[in-house]
Amino acid sequence: MSSRTALVTGSSGLIGSEMVAFLDRSGWRVHGIDNNMRRDFFGEAGDTTWNLERLRAATSRFEHHDADVRDRRLMAELASEVRPDLIVHCAAQPSHDLAATRPFDDFEVNAGGTLNLLEAARHACPDSPFVFLSTNKVYGDAPNELRLVELETRYDYADPELREGIDETCRIDATMHSLFGASKAAADLVVQEYGRYFGMPTVCFRGGCLTGRNQSGAELHGFLAYLARAIRAGRTYRIYGYKGKQVRDNIHSYDVCTAIMAYAANPRPAAVYNLGGGRANSVSLLEAVDRFEELCGRRLKTEYVDEPRRGDHICYITDLRRFRRDYPDWELTVGLDELFAELAGAGELARSAATRGPL
Ligand SMILES: NC(=O)c1ccc[n+]([C@@H]2O[C@H](COP(=O)([O-])OP(=O)(O)OC[C@H]3O[C@@H](n4cnc5c(N)ncnc54)[C@H](O)[C@@H]3O)[C@@H](O)[C@H]2O)c1
Repeated sequence: MSSRTALVTGSSGLIGSEMVAFLDRSGWRVHGIDNNMRRDFFGEAGDTTWNLERLRAATSRFEHHDADVRDRRLMAELASEVRPDLIVHCAAQPSHDLAATRPFDDFEVNAGGTLNLLEAARHACPDSPFVFLSTNKVYGDAPNELRLVELETRYDYADPELREGIDETCRIDATMHSLFGASKAAADLVVQEYGRYFGMPTVCFRGGCLTGRNQSGAELHGFLAYLARAIRAGRTYRIYGYKGKQVRDNIHSYDVCTAIMAYAANPRPAAVYNLGGGRANSVSLLEAVDRFEELCGRRLKTEYVDEPRRGDHICYITDLRRFRRDYPDWELTVGLDELFAELAGAGELARSAATRGPL
């Protein structure tokens, strides 16, 4: 068992909490930073207190800090006290849509908070891997320029060469990002710069839809988790544009953790990887509704809003080949069936960090 120490920000959120549980089970000492700002962003549905309590009960070497990543001095102090062997930075304002109503909070958390942590790391632990959870929204709506075909229940790429999806060479400028995509792109570039300029082992994982049962799904963030919640609660779900045929690829938070650990074991400075579920884990909104209805045995009430969200991707499938090339032992372990079962609460099939052993 390792006795190394990690610092995880956003530790009460979906990825952060999965990471804490994963590291704790693997023998790491973990310091988590989270101020429950998700509640402030999304209201009651975004409250992460339950997840923090769950973590406290399930872990043995986890210490929580109710701290704000915007607090530059505190981040520097914490990093120099803890001198972590690994930093996993997950704290964020994560919603595309919400950013427009909270532009300063969005930028200060996403871009400013990331810079605070990078500087803290550069002074306290420049050789420790620094993992940043970036997003495919750094590509803005550039993927929407691709030629698409409309199938019965989804869109797909017309060009067979795009079968594997979008890779890291997609441009990130001259495209509409939403303010969220812009603040994350700013952070993504700064993380790369600390890798290139200072030679630090930094990585940006540009996520597709990251999901799992520990997500405090809200209408403005957490596509599948919120959909599952709506169907269970008999709530009306709004579909915004594209006839509900927009496609997302989904990756379980557990598989995100194993990717992070693969990188941490063999880091490369200034790395950038797309990380998602790939074609096998892709699903359109209409298909997702069908699957949940079948699993839950009830119909979802939907309302169609004939206007897509601004900058929303029509069809986004993650090309995983760069990451797979550099980390050939990593694999996706949670397929769509299991993911849906977990979110629908369909017991036996469901797995989560709490039930998985360390790798
Ligand atoms: N979930 C997805 O589909 C997805 C997709 C692509 C990228 N990402 C990125 O992955 C990361 C993790 O996403 P997630 O789904 O776990 O989000 P999440 O909202 O579940 O977790 C983020 C956590 O950060 C905390 N937080 C917010 N502002 C903070 C602040 N100022 N100080 C301290 N803590 C703060 C929140 O309270 C929350 O618990 C984010 O950077 C997000 O942009 C997520």
